[in-house]
Amino acid sequence: MDREIERVLLTETELSERVSELGAQVTSVYRDKLGAEPLIAVGMLKGAFVFLADLVRNIELYCEIDFLTVSSYGNLTESSGQILIKKDVSFDARGRHILLVEDIVDSGYTMNFVQNMLRARSPASLALVSLLDKPSRRKVPVTIDYLGFSIPDEFVVGYGLDFAGRHRNLPYIGVLNPAVYGSAD
Ligand code: IMP
Ligand code: MG
Repeated sequence: MDREIERVLLTETELSERVSELGAQVTSVYRDKLGAEPLIAVGMLKGAFVFLADLVRNIELYCEIDFLTVSSYGNLTESSGQILIKKDVSFDARGRHILLVEDIVDSGYTMNFVQNMLRARSPASLALVSLLDKPSRRKVPVTIDYLGFSIPDEFVVGYGLDFAGRHRNLPYIGVLNPAVYGSAD
């Protein structure tokens, strides 16, 4: 195992089982809800790219894909609460059924901002699926409609999540060795 990883928190098998359950859940909820317009899954770049790719292959409905990139100033492991849109979605949200796809909700600043922004555009519905949640870190409220796993307050990487750009390509979710960022804070 990589020396920057302290331990594995969620294995590849645990992830794939949970992601297929989430896909089935989304499928059953939206099956009768969608009109002529397909569902649109909006992945939060970059962290959600792996989760989104696995999730949509478990959704058995017509489903469009889009992406949103935001940045938040802060240090390496904590958000400052100031969110900036770096790349907006490329569709007209009015009347659409939007499923936001996020890797992890931490302070909640990012999802709180994005949910308010998209809700103001009058979609037919707006829901959030997040692979991970760190509820003990919440600063502002966020409703997570579909959740993969609730995890303790530890910095995790892999399956799309990074530290300083590294480890997104790990097939599992691991706890970062605190020695890696301890000196950077
Ligand atoms: P929030 O705005 O504090 O909720 O932060 C959400 C964003 O911070 C996520 O989309 C991640 O990009 C990043 N983040 C929060 N916690 C972690 C973590 O444990 N590992 C990797 N990235 C994280
Ligand atoms: Mg993110």
